[in-house]
Amino acid sequence: MAETFGEVTMKNNTIRVGMVGLGMIFQETYLPVFEQSRGRVRLSLKDKPYEIQLTGVASRTEKSHSMVREKFGIPCYSGPDAVNQLLSQGIDALCIASPDGTHHLPALQGLRHNCHILIEKPSVLNMQDLDLLEAQANTSETLARVVYHKLGDPDHKRLRTLVSENVLRHVNSGYCTLLEPKSISQGTFAAWINGRNPATYVAVHYFKLIDFTFGTSQARDSWKLRRIGCSAQRGIVGPAQGSTWDSVQNHITYEHPDGREASFDIHTSWVNPDNFPGYVDQEVQFRFDNGIWNASQRKRGVELVVEGLTPHDLKTNINNHYNASLLDPWGPKVSKGYGLEVLERFFTEVAHVEWDGDKSDRPARLKTVRSMKYADLSADRNVVAMVQATEAILEMAAQGKPGGVVEVNGEHGGLVLTYSGASDRIVLYEKPI
Ligand SMILES: NC(=O)c1ccc[n+]([C@@H]2O[C@H](COP(=O)([O-])OP(=O)(O)OC[C@H]3O[C@@H](n4cnc5c(N)ncnc54)[C@H](O)[C@@H]3O)[C@@H](O)[C@H]2O)c1
Repeated sequence: MAETFGEVTMKNNTIRVGMVGLGMIFQETYLPVFEQSRGRVRLSLKDKPYEIQLTGVASRTEKSHSMVREKFGIPCYSGPDAVNQLLSQGIDALCIASPDGTHHLPALQGLRHNCHILIEKPSVLNMQDLDLLEAQANTSETLARVVYHKLGDPDHKRLRTLVSENVLRHVNSGYCTLLEPKSISQGTFAAWINGRNPATYVAVHYFKLIDFTFGTSQARDSWKLRRIGCSAQRGIVGPAQGSTWDSVQNHITYEHPDGREASFDIHTSWVNPDNFPGYVDQEVQFRFDNGIWNASQRKRGVELVVEGLTPHDLKTNINNHYNASLLDPWGPKVSKGYGLEVLERFFTEVAHVEWDGDKSDRPARLKTVRSMKYADLSADRNVVAMVQATEAILEMAAQGKPGGVVEVNGEHGGLVLTYSGASDRIVLYEKPI
């Protein structure tokens, strides 16, 4: 095997990547990573050179296929058999960025082809699907990772640092909000918005942030998810009596090892005005025994006004940490940010598993990466539980029964939907979360 820097000659150390879904998130984060990876040597966790090569793509329609062919000259598949066709051409890593409810099947297909997989959040919509994927990942001995780029936001890394170092002690409560513009629900997602809700789409970022950040400083099984509730509104994206939701308010409760509870409200919407000054409005506040963390993640300090461009084509409040296109002082324009870093990190982890030592040690390397919980599917159980609970509560609300609360790991099962004053219950998932 040749290992030469500069012109890439390490054919054996090339990750052949397949992409499922070519929509907004592909354009914003994956595309710049693949474009900036061409002919570039990257380094694994042990500084072994490797290369990333986008090798083929699959999507529902042919939209964006001509752009992909022009830029990469690779096969593009569409239609019901697209993922199988993509996989049969030889893929090492499959990235899945299709709509929320469609991740499970391509993920399973990828794992069955012994591919490492990276799934956009939400990984899957229920625990049953999560169990199947986890079992298949164990059989295939490949990585199954989930993208949560907000964990890589420098503000959230700092928050977690202060929590881990016990500077901020014992979280008690908090709120998070993320409001998307109407153009997302009524334009970008118009093809798959029916029956969907903004919580499954974006509250998951905060489900993960809370679960990961406050579960870090203590044994994971002692930071216990207890209850999930939500209310929601409709009538703008879809009919006022329908099953497509405009906005959702989640209320989730955890229990600390000392028995004290911590509760969080997470408000999401995708009917915010399009002339809003930022791409999204996002804000978090966490209250501790000894402090408060307050962050407006829209107003990060930059305010931009350009005649005829802001706030539509350019935004007034811009996030230069996510996927900014920047002119480095020492070179040409590049795309950078935590939205891209989290994808690059996945490929670095794949390279570590495959090439950072003897083949006989591969299982140990696989185990090491899987133990990095920030992205592993096996550590996504609480988040998927919150998604499944939200979906079930909303489904019942659409049928005229709002106000459900899902109890976690109680005496009747892992996820049990209950209603105040009623003795009947629906078991959503029997096993412990
Ligand atoms: N990491 C983030 O912050 C972030 C941001 C936006 C979206 N996302 C997630 O990424 C996923 C895609 O979102 P998007 O904004 O790119 O959506 P989009 O609607 O812009 O694009 C969806 C793409 O998937 C393709 N597709 C649709 N159904 C498919 C199927 N059954 N099989 C294969 N391809 C299919 C479509 O052809 C399209 O290319 C969603 O799960 C979403 O929650 C993540």
